[in-house]
Amino acid sequence: MILLGVNIDHCATLRQARYRDAAGAEGGAVEPDPVLLAERSERAGADGITAHLREDRRHIQDRDVWRLRESVRTRLNLEMACTREMVDLALKVKPQAVCIVPENRTEVTTEGGLDVAGGREKVAACVAAMSAAGIEASLFIDPDDAQIDAAAGIGAPVVELHTGAYAHACGTPRQAAELRRLTLGAARAHALGLKVNAGHGINYVNIAEVRAVPHLHELNIGHSILSRALFTGIEEAVREMRARMNP
Ligand code: PXP
Repeated sequence: MILLGVNIDHCATLRQARYRDAAGAEGGAVEPDPVLLAERSERAGADGITAHLREDRRHIQDRDVWRLRESVRTRLNLEMACTREMVDLALKVKPQAVCIVPENRTEVTTEGGLDVAGGREKVAACVAAMSAAGIEASLFIDPDDAQIDAAAGIGAPVVELHTGAYAHACGTPRQAAELRRLTLGAARAHALGLKVNAGHGINYVNIAEVRAVPHLHELNIGHSILSRALFTGIEEAVREMRARMNP
């Protein structure tokens, strides 16, 4: 059974598009509320809720994180950069899990994996701080041997394999090669004792291939579910993705 973590960032993106200046406001006219979306997603079978608090606060706000901490009944996975500010915040909020991601102010969404091999000490300190606080830390990395080995080497318990390159390659001659890269990466990470999650660009079509990648524990999916929910409603969108993940 592969678990589904619903990424709610794009709900907050939509809210910020209209209500950026209504700092801290919720309820009333301020919509859509990502916390409500998280509750509905859980009701439809989501196994966890993922939210990324970015340095520039472009979508999820600090207040959302605190409200999610109160309301999420399954598992809250906080995506964050490996910075002092975010580590301190995670230690206060104490979500069940964090996913450490690279952050680049100019990117629209997380574009590449974290360079664990090139920044071992910094990432190791972040993982150690989380582990000491009982927070499971995962590292969002490309399915490359050097990154997987480095993640295992610094004692990370979980990796989230970046499926973006595969998703971009869908429908092109590179699709099979990118899928194979994910398959080999998952096998390598599993053999090194890492729990294997995956995410980015997974949709209702490519899920048929992605779910066959071995050893998958959890998939984190946002954009496709939110897009589908515009037409079907969030509960139907979550139910359908779960059904396609585990037919
Ligand atoms: N996993 C991570 C680490 C992410 O940063 C994101 C969002 O970019 C996702 C999963 C979800 O990606 P998507 O919205 O394309 O499903």
